[in-house]
Amino acid sequence: MAFPPQFLDDLRARVPASSVVGRKVKLTRKGREFSGLCPFHSEKSPSFFVNDDKSFYHCFGCGAHGDIVSFVMQTEGLGFAETVERLAGEAGIEVPRDTPTDRRTVERRQTLEAAMEAACLYFEQSLRGPSGSSAREYLIRRGVREEDIGKFRLGWSPDQRDGLKVALKIQGFDEALLVEAGLLIRVEEKPDPYDRFRGRVMFPICDKRGRVIAFGGRILGDGQPKYLNSPETPLFHKGRSLYALHLARPAAAKKQEVILAEGYMDVIALHRAGFNTAVAPLGTAFTEEQMEELWRLAPEPLLCLDGDTAGQKAMMRAALRALPQLKAGRSLRFVTLPDGLDPDDLLGRPGGPARLREALTAARPLVEALWEGVKLGRVLDTPERKADFSRELHAQIATIADADVRRLYQADIDQRLTGLFGVAPVQTSVEVAPAPPPFRPKFQPGKRGRWQEPDAFLKSIPQANGRTAGILNERLTARALLAAFLNHPFLFDHWQEALAEISFADAGLDLLRREIVNLTAIRPGLDAEALQSHVAESEHAFMLSQVMQQDVAGTFPFTRREAFPQDVRAKVAEIFGRLSDRRVTEDGKILMAVTLSEETPEAWLRYKALFADKAKSHAELDGEGMAQASEAETGINPVAPS
Ligand code: UTP
Ligand code: MN
Repeated sequence: MAFPPQFLDDLRARVPASSVVGRKVKLTRKGREFSGLCPFHSEKSPSFFVNDDKSFYHCFGCGAHGDIVSFVMQTEGLGFAETVERLAGEAGIEVPRDTPTDRRTVERRQTLEAAMEAACLYFEQSLRGPSGSSAREYLIRRGVREEDIGKFRLGWSPDQRDGLKVALKIQGFDEALLVEAGLLIRVEEKPDPYDRFRGRVMFPICDKRGRVIAFGGRILGDGQPKYLNSPETPLFHKGRSLYALHLARPAAAKKQEVILAEGYMDVIALHRAGFNTAVAPLGTAFTEEQMEELWRLAPEPLLCLDGDTAGQKAMMRAALRALPQLKAGRSLRFVTLPDGLDPDDLLGRPGGPARLREALTAARPLVEALWEGVKLGRVLDTPERKADFSRELHAQIATIADADVRRLYQADIDQRLTGLFGVAPVQTSVEVAPAPPPFRPKFQPGKRGRWQEPDAFLKSIPQANGRTAGILNERLTARALLAAFLNHPFLFDHWQEALAEISFADAGLDLLRREIVNLTAIRPGLDAEALQSHVAESEHAFMLSQVMQQDVAGTFPFTRREAFPQDVRAKVAEIFGRLSDRRVTEDGKILMAVTLSEETPEAWLRYKALFADKAKSHAELDGEGMAQASEAETGINPVAPS
């Protein structure tokens, strides 16, 4: 549910951050702040600070940063809404929910659910009726049995313009509702909406409790697209849903096993062969939210994606995405299917079920998938190449948030490196500075002469004064980047992954960034309007308004809707280039400190101290003037002229 921004502000103001954090961390008061040992990484002296005035916590050791909501979400593993409800409950603050608008939303939801159920029944009946004969033949040919059809409620959408529309209108559902449910398509200008699904085998997608919230429809034969899915609707959020979760749940909880396959037909084939804990994401990447869902069922979900290259790449991406979320006893396992087959194909062959069982038993742990994945395609024949391999592994491990797990990954990987190279690898100090969020250098540009030539673009940013310039740049740039993507969705064609892999120090902006990434992964091809209206309906509406403010458009004209695409592309490339340069050269602490420098004078003092440290080591290294070196390297200008 979306909470009004004012309510969240009130909550933060009424509940002191130190009281929430203080339940998990022993805090000592230091002036206007509290300090303690960071709960997000292991340390012996406190570098974790909590500020009640500003309602945030920050760790100078690992960069963890957030407010009471993010603290509870991370330490308790709860969702956003749950966390807010709980904090509000504890503080005795009423959650605004019973407004007439909300009641209308609930009613609307129920009507949408009723429409989806009616549609499901219509498709099921059509499959059994005369128009469904070719679909029935198709399913039989693919080995789907009568009982599978019943269990998965498979159906058929007749190849008509308005078969469903007519059937549901008779039952009293109005057109606007059916459009909102994603069952009808309304083309601009044309008053007459028509059936979205025509001539397709229908796979209903259900929520956890088995209520139909969306459909996937497969074409008979070879047309395009092979599968057509419902759009995002108030009921259906693709990145949060899993196909057949309601069917797999009881067995999964009992067996403490859950299998993630790639597609609808794989899931059906798996269940048919007795692997009744199988689910699938819905034609998108396996999201963090889906991972959390699976971890509620079993400690080590089995990823059993297609055995082809695409499937293997998807598994590697899932592995990297899982790293930050690992905890003691909680991981993923990776199944390799023989001959590049998908589960459906494999199970259809003689001895298929036995071979699949074998593959499941032989599933590799995440640490091995990581090792193999990073090693893939590398020729490790020189010290430099070996060092690069080691560096990349350690960079990935550094994204693991859990300190114990991180340490053990480090040990495991070091052992493998020693085994492979015959010498112990250089110890990197992940203990001290873990997890500046991952920024993988896939699209990293060459080392342009980034500080020989002052950047005209950065210089165009108004400089309030030397001291605030850094933070201004940082936050403004983040807002500009998001504004650019929101106004120019064509950017996702090239920069989707880049946007997915950076992170912003500002927690709110970072949540918005993730929302946008998820949304567009789920629904590629949204135009600016649609994208923004989706975000506006989410809990990130407030951040959206922040990003769309006039100062962003004023300072960065390329973010405006009417900017020329080639300008937009060039500027965005420039920003990403700078970010990746910075990640490489900077030690993360400085970046966080700069961001924090705005918040309190104390923080500013701490930052200066840190900065002096860094400068000293620079001076020792190359005898250069420190301020110059650091400023050049970070591309930000943190020193107040004194
Ligand atoms: P696959 O093409 O591997 O599906 O896509 P499949 O299950 O093997 O299909 P069959 O066996 O040919 O029927 C995997 C999943 O990706 C999504 C669907 O969820 C599909 O099950 N997908 C695929 C789409 O959403 N749209 C498409 O056009 C293709
Ligand atoms: Mn298939």
